[in-house]
Amino acid sequence: MEPVQPIQYKDGRLALIDQRRLPLELVTVECETYEDVAKAIEDMAVRGAPAIGIAAAYGVAMGAKALATGATFSRPGVPGGTSGAAATELFLGALEGIGERLKRTRPTAVNLFWAVDRMMRVATAQASRGPMGISVALFEEAKAIADEDVAMNRRLGDFGQALVPDTATVLTHCNAGALATGGFGTALGVVRAAVAAGKQVQVLADETRPLLQGARLTAWELSQEGIPVTLITDSMAGHMMQQKRVDVVIVGADRIAANGDTANKIGTYSLAVLAKEHGLPFYIAAPSSTIDLSLADGKGIVIEERRAEEVTRIGQTVIAPPGVKVANPAFDVTPARLITAIITDRGVVKPPYHDNLRALFGAR
Ligand code: MRU
Repeated sequence: MEPVQPIQYKDGRLALIDQRRLPLELVTVECETYEDVAKAIEDMAVRGAPAIGIAAAYGVAMGAKALATGATFSRPGVPGGTSGAAATELFLGALEGIGERLKRTRPTAVNLFWAVDRMMRVATAQASRGPMGISVALFEEAKAIADEDVAMNRRLGDFGQALVPDTATVLTHCNAGALATGGFGTALGVVRAAVAAGKQVQVLADETRPLLQGARLTAWELSQEGIPVTLITDSMAGHMMQQKRVDVVIVGADRIAANGDTANKIGTYSLAVLAKEHGLPFYIAAPSSTIDLSLADGKGIVIEERRAEEVTRIGQTVIAPPGVKVANPAFDVTPARLITAIITDRGVVKPPYHDNLRALFGAR
């Protein structure tokens, strides 16, 4: 069975599998405007670093089409009746604003910024085609970003599976699977590739509080394909390692700095510390689009702080006293020294990360 495809553009709409409703319901959110896409990213109907990059890319293309087909020049402050180069300049200025709106949705995953910037570069490069021609080029580019993501996932899956023993229990956190990407997965892409290579792999999935991506999404996604998965609460990981019931930890990433420091779902850092204590390999699996060589180290990564209700409730059920003070950082940064290797679509990167990441990704 093929992995799910969380993002599909058809007939002027971006259909996103609504990841807030899984596993109870498999339904889509239909986005008709770039603002719908921005809200879907903010509210986490679509989530996972590569997936939000792909969705935002389509958001830029949808915004461009709306601008090109008329909505544009009725915008307040934009003079009507402009044509030719002047119109294209106004169009590109308005499109820049759409890109900025999409970038304001979530701050941590670099894939979002990478995708929007790539779209804006295409828009500028295609300026001579005028607004409609630019919007056509942008839809092609968004599709290319989505297709390339799946191809990168498959490549990194092949590199990564070589690191997985023939019989192995892989502990993972959050959901770094098909749902979080264009449709194959990073950490779960490695698992899929290992299974395809005939290895006996089972997955231990951390539930991943507060939003339970492990319980709701990873457990669902793997079960759909018959890949053995056992769900645990986050607090059980140390015990499972102590009991020798884990062979390897593989997680995804939202942003990897030049020195290898890696932001991923809150709780990842704790797992890395536990893996070190128990002598277990701790791997990050991520495509090129997650690597941010502009940041020297993890201190520069902005950690998203989300709503208190995500912690004080599970689903709709309130589990904390009213008014209690809450902290809700959505990500943490695992220092490079705790990471055994970073599995990418260009190969497996080992320490020293500063030199080895630059050698593979420096000239992009
Ligand atoms: O808040 P989320 O669900 O968007 O966080 C997702 C993660 O932290 C994933 O591990 C990461 O984006 C990698 S997805 C291939």
